[in-house]
Amino acid sequence: MTDETIKTMKLYSRVERVYAQLRHAGIADGEPVPPGVLWQFDQYHYGGTDAVDEGIARLALEPRHRVLDVGSGLGGPARFIASRAGCRVTALELQPDLHEVASRLTERCGLAHLVSHRNGDILEGPVPAGGFDALFAWLVFLHIPERERLYRRCHEALAPGGGMYVEDYFERGTLTDDERETLAAKVYSRGLPRLDELRRDLDRAGFTQVALEDVTASWIGHVVERALAYRANRKHETALHGEEVFAGLDDFYSTIARLFRGGNLGGVRLLARKL
Ligand SMILES: C[S@@+](CC[C@H](N)C(=O)[O-])C[C@H]1O[C@@H](n2cnc3c(N)ncnc32)[C@H](O)[C@@H]1O
Repeated sequence: MTDETIKTMKLYSRVERVYAQLRHAGIADGEPVPPGVLWQFDQYHYGGTDAVDEGIARLALEPRHRVLDVGSGLGGPARFIASRAGCRVTALELQPDLHEVASRLTERCGLAHLVSHRNGDILEGPVPAGGFDALFAWLVFLHIPERERLYRRCHEALAPGGGMYVEDYFERGTLTDDERETLAAKVYSRGLPRLDELRRDLDRAGFTQVALEDVTASWIGHVVERALAYRANRKHETALHGEEVFAGLDDFYSTIARLFRGGNLGGVRLLARKL
């Protein structure tokens, strides 16, 4: 996978726009950032920090646990886990610009002693085997069609007894050709699993106690509300980031809302354990 191809997804354009959001919140470039101020800008999934709290509770995190956050984006979930649960977190991110901005934000939040950032691809394995007690991934696996290898890599990264918590897309109905093309062109997503395929592939990778929960109904609320709120804020967003960024994100958010409302795209919460 290359950085350039994943950039067809507009959420990943001009990721340094978060600095403009901070300036607008009264925090100048380079100044320390209270982590709480960032939480409204640095979570690239649905449900914000509530979703991360859910993950922390489901894996019963304690400060002694070593955590891997796969596909860490701007580092929002990793910083939240470190602040909330007191764990050391390794934040692994594929895209160099996101990795760069995430690392700076972590320093500015004063959390560099707990969160270490790595730039790399989970498929290529820049993480130590057996090095983690908990693995999280929010809306990452949808970008990775090589599922067999992905789940094997995640399984390897965990120590015996370790747990995995994932929130992701799945094929809930039968996606139309048009929906598949849209997912490929605008969400960098090719070949989503059905729930039975997901369970089978996790079993094959060696995971046990696999629990899959269909969370589509609550996600529809989040994505529709996000699309409407973004459009309603057009004047503010355009003033802050320019017309091109606004148009790209507006299209992205409304596309996601349309796909979920279509009923064939679903959201799953996945829990699994390595014995
Ligand atoms: C929708 S974002 C979610 C970011 C973060 N998990 C969050 O919830 O805020 C998905 C992230 O996964 C990253 N990603 C995709 N494929 C990856 C891979 N093979 N290895 C590591 N990161 C990956 C993307 O670059 C992107 O930053």
